Amino acid sequence: MGRLVIHGGRPLRGIVTVSGAKNAALPAMAAVLLTPQELILENVPSLGDVATIRRLLGFMGVESSDVGPGTVSLTSRAVERCEAPYDLVRTMRAAVLVLGPLLARCGEARVSLPGGCAIGPRPINLHLAGLQQMGAEIDLVDGYVMAKAPRLSGARLAFETVTVTGTENLMMAATLATGTTILENSACEPEVVDLARLLKAMGARIEGAGTSTITIEGVEALTGARHRIVPDRVEAGTLAVAAAITRGDVVIQGCVPHHVEAVTAKLREAGASVAVEAGQMRVRMAARPRPVDISTAPFPGFATDMQAQIMALMAIADGRSVITETVFENRFMHIPELVRMGADITVAGREAVVQGVPFLRGAPVMATDLRASASLVLAGLQAGGETLVDGISHLDRGYERLEAKLQSLGGEIRRVEG
Ligand code: UD1
Repeated sequence: MGRLVIHGGRPLRGIVTVSGAKNAALPAMAAVLLTPQELILENVPSLGDVATIRRLLGFMGVESSDVGPGTVSLTSRAVERCEAPYDLVRTMRAAVLVLGPLLARCGEARVSLPGGCAIGPRPINLHLAGLQQMGAEIDLVDGYVMAKAPRLSGARLAFETVTVTGTENLMMAATLATGTTILENSACEPEVVDLARLLKAMGARIEGAGTSTITIEGVEALTGARHRIVPDRVEAGTLAVAAAITRGDVVIQGCVPHHVEAVTAKLREAGASVAVEAGQMRVRMAARPRPVDISTAPFPGFATDMQAQIMALMAIADGRSVITETVFENRFMHIPELVRMGADITVAGREAVVQGVPFLRGAPVMATDLRASASLVLAGLQAGGETLVDGISHLDRGYERLEAKLQSLGGEIRRVEG
C-alpha cells in the first residue's frame, strides 16, 4: 500500500479544478439497475469507490465502458444476479444503494450488510423500514438483507433521522412502485438533488428534491439518459481549507460555491478571504486563523464530511475552538494522529476541544478513514518537517488525484509505494 510524503510549510497558490462528486456518482451508477437502456454519465471521478461500484454492477450483469474522459456508459439489459456479495460490499457502505433499485426492478434482492468507513455503527434500519412500508418482506440472514416484493407500492414515510443514502435508496425504489410515495424528513443534500435530476431525465416523476419532503409518483418503466455529475463539494471544501491552512491563495474552479457555503462561512469567520463567483471561488489567508466553533449537521449545515479537515485548521488557530460531531458517533479517529503532530485536542463525548498551537510538526501518521486521511494531508501541508501519511487507500476511495492537484499548487507532496 502506498503512503504520502509531505514537506509542509509552503503556501499553496494557483488554480485547481474540482472533480465530480463521489457521493453523487455512486447513486447515479446504481440507478442504471432501474432501466434496460443505456445511461451515460459525465464528470465521473476516477476513484476507488467508483471502481468498486462498477465491479459490483458488473457482477449483476451491467455492461460498462469508458466512452470519454470521465464519461462512463452503463447498460443493465437484464439483471443477471439480484445480489450484492459481501466481498464486493464490505469496503463501501454506499453499496447498499443497489438495494432499492434491485428490488424495484427484479422483485427481489440479496444484499450484504455494508462495511465502509469505521465511523460508528452506521446502521441501515431506516432503508429497510422504508422498503417494508412499501410492501417489501425483509429478512436478515447470515449478514445479508434478503428482500422480496413482486411490486413495491407507494407509501407515506417519515425518516426518523435524516439519511442521505436512505433517501436516495427509497427515492429510486419508489420510481417504479405503484402509486405515490411521500418521503418526509428527507435529506436535502445536493447529491440527492443530483440523483433526482438524473431520475427525472430517465422519466421518473419526482417533486421536492432538495427540500425535506420528496414526492415520487411511480411509473411503469424508466428510460436511458445522459447526465453530468455535480461537482464534489467535499473536495472543494478540502481544497479551500488547504489554501487557508497554508496561508495560500487558491482559485477553486468548477465547483458550486453555494454547496460549500457552510464551510466558506466558517473560513471567513476564521479570517480567510473568500471571493465567490459563478462556478469558482478564491480562498486567501494571510494570518493565523481565529478559532471558530463548529457543529456538524445535515445540509445546508456544516457537513460531517468536512469536520476532520476543519479540525486540522483549528489545530493551528489562535485560541480555543469546540467542534461538535452530531451526525456520526466515533468520527474523531483523526484526533490521536493530529495530536502526534503536536495538536492540543481533547475529546468529551461528541465534542472536541481544540486549543490551537502556532504550528504542527511533521510525523508518521495513519489514515483511518476517508476524511480523516484528508485532514492528515492538510495538517502535513502546514507542518514543519516531514509527514508520512500511511493508509492512503482510504484517500484514494474518495479523492481523485489529490496529491497531483496539491502539487500543481506548489505543495511538496509525493506518493511512494510500499
Ligand atoms: C452519506 C455520505 C457520507 C456522509 C453522510 C452524512 C454517501 C455515499 N455517503 O452517508 O459521505 O458522511 O451521508 O452526510 O452519500 N442512520 C441510521 N439508520 C439508517 C441510516 C442512517 O441510524 O438506516 C444514521 C447514521 O448512523 C448516521 C446518520 O443516520 O448517524 C446519517 O447517516 P446517513 O446520512 O445515512 O449516511 P450515509 O448515507 O451512509
